[in-house]
Amino acid sequence: MQVLGIETSCDETGVALYDDGRGLLANALYSQIAIHRPYGGVVPELASRDHVQRLLPLIREVFAGARSKPSMIGAVAYTAGPGLMGALLVGAAVGRSLAYAWGIPAVAIHHMEAHLLAPMLEPDAPSFPFLALLVSGGHTQLVRVDGVGRYRILGETLDDAAGEAFDKTAKLLGLGYPGGPALSALAERGRPGRFEFPRPMTDRPGLDFSFSGLKTYALNTVRGLPGDEQTRADIARAFVDAVVGTLVIKCERAMRATGLNRIVAAGGVSANAQLRRALAAAAERSGGKLYTPRPEFCTDNGAMIALAGCLRVKAGATEPLAFAAHARWDLTHEREE
Ligand code: KG4
Ligand code: ZN
Repeated sequence: MQVLGIETSCDETGVALYDDGRGLLANALYSQIAIHRPYGGVVPELASRDHVQRLLPLIREVFAGARSKPSMIGAVAYTAGPGLMGALLVGAAVGRSLAYAWGIPAVAIHHMEAHLLAPMLEPDAPSFPFLALLVSGGHTQLVRVDGVGRYRILGETLDDAAGEAFDKTAKLLGLGYPGGPALSALAERGRPGRFEFPRPMTDRPGLDFSFSGLKTYALNTVRGLPGDEQTRADIARAFVDAVVGTLVIKCERAMRATGLNRIVAAGGVSANAQLRRALAAAAERSGGKLYTPRPEFCTDNGAMIALAGCLRVKAGATEPLAFAAHARWDLTHEREE
């Protein structure tokens, strides 16, 4: 069965075709970086308008790339939340309408569920149960995953998400949008140990996170120092070391608490090479293994939505003709208004 996947929750339009037997058949992505860059962040209304323009051409592109056609499609999956309401509605309206026109089921997908299933797009896929570290622009969560739709949140951020901390710290170091990749690149040139940032909430029990203090720490460190390139790189390095160190400590704690040693890392921040190396080493120390999507499937994409849709349909998901998008939506609830 082929599933068409549509992702429009934020600033990329992603479309893909996934086949349960043959795997990923085609994947297309349009990033809105150039549109939002002059504003230093995502402008929701501009995002929605651009999704409207990009979506149908991208759908045509994946059909051509996979030599497929609508009569070969078994279901349409679209991101229904969480995300920007207007942006979500574009994908939901197009996805639901195509499914209706083609007489096939539509499936509303939770964006973070798609992120945590994304390593299954790779040849070396994790088997259930596993521990998932979700680190994106809006979420930082540790989740126990026992199967498709069987998720228990073990810990999450009390304030900023890890990606949000990257973006805000990047901004105060004078790096533009999108901040995460730029800050990662700057940190690669930084020297470890010149500055020492705290590892928030690692001195108390539990699996929750707090990242909002790190940007303040970075701001206070920047003040009064020369703004030369090496100093900025050293601060970036201290920030990344602190985020990675904190995430590793919490993952190790979660492995001990659950007895699980298969770790999935997913979401935009999991594209960070330093985090991938550190988590892989931590999993190996526990006799386990780290599973991550290739970097392009860590950040938002249509492939993970098509895959999640395929798994959901095979598990019996059905949906009425009415559709809705949810700007906020708890991963462990089937729906939240
Ligand atoms: O998963 P994602 O593409 O979108 C959301 O669901 O939010 O994650 C985007 C976040 C942004 O905060 C971005 O700065 C961060 O992921 N990010 C990175 C890297 N690439 C993207 N953070 C650190 N290192 C990277 N290489
Ligand atoms: Zn995402």
